[in-house]
Amino acid sequence: MTGVLAVAGGTASGKSTLAEALSLQHPESVALVHLDDYYVPAHDRLNGVWTVSADGHPVLDWNHPGSIDERAAAHAVDAALLRPGVRLVVVEGLFALSLPSVLRRAAWRVYVETPDDIRLARKILRKIEVQRQDPGLSLRNYLQTGRDRHADHVAPSRAAADLVVDGTASEAEMLAAVMPLIGPALAQSPAAPSQARGVRAVPGASAIPALAV
Ligand SMILES: Nc1ncnc2c1ncn2[C@@H]1O[C@H](COP(=O)(O)OP(=O)(O)OP(=O)(O)O)[C@@H](O)[C@H]1O
Ligand SMILES: [Mg+2]
Repeated sequence: MTGVLAVAGGTASGKSTLAEALSLQHPESVALVHLDDYYVPAHDRLNGVWTVSADGHPVLDWNHPGSIDERAAAHAVDAALLRPGVRLVVVEGLFALSLPSVLRRAAWRVYVETPDDIRLARKILRKIEVQRQDPGLSLRNYLQTGRDRHADHVAPSRAAADLVVDGTASEAEMLAAVMPLIGPALAQSPAAPSQARGVRAVPGASAIPALAV
């Protein structure tokens, strides 16, 4: 059985960490689709949703699902499903449970939930330590639009999830939490049963997978 696992959640919740851990654990049978790779071109003023950055420049609104090339993303999912050996396509991104074309392809739907203050702290740390940039503009953009965009376009998609994973849990715990869900598509690794003892599921979502459409 081949299927699609959609992983959504707020920025810096841990979506990519979870998706990449799945791929590392099952490199032959997991294909990754990062929705971050499917924004419309940032120079293309005719497509996407545009906003004004806190420093006064017009910018593509990265926090709006209308800025994703949904057709291209759906095509990438379909192409990954056809790749020899692939049994699970993990599509991860802010809008994995908001974009209809992605959502209807997903047999399993996960929302990574991490408190807003922790997500903001992670994002600012990443700005400073990894990107070596002044976090001031990010913070102003967060106050100006980012916070509202999360409330409008990301947080509501939690309702579409079969499973809500605690994004403050360890990587191993997040992995173990999703394993029961994707078991039909992916044989569990020998390590998975012992990791399952550390599962911290968040109440409010069932673990019954939705049917692929
Ligand atoms: N379970 C976790 N515990 C502690 N730190 C974590 C955990 N998951 C992710 N992180 C850290 O949080 C930061 C953001 O993680 P990650 O890139 O996976 O988030 P994301 O949801 O993909 O964010 P984005 O939407 O910006 O792509 C990284 O520095 C990562 O190391
Ligand atoms: Mg990411």
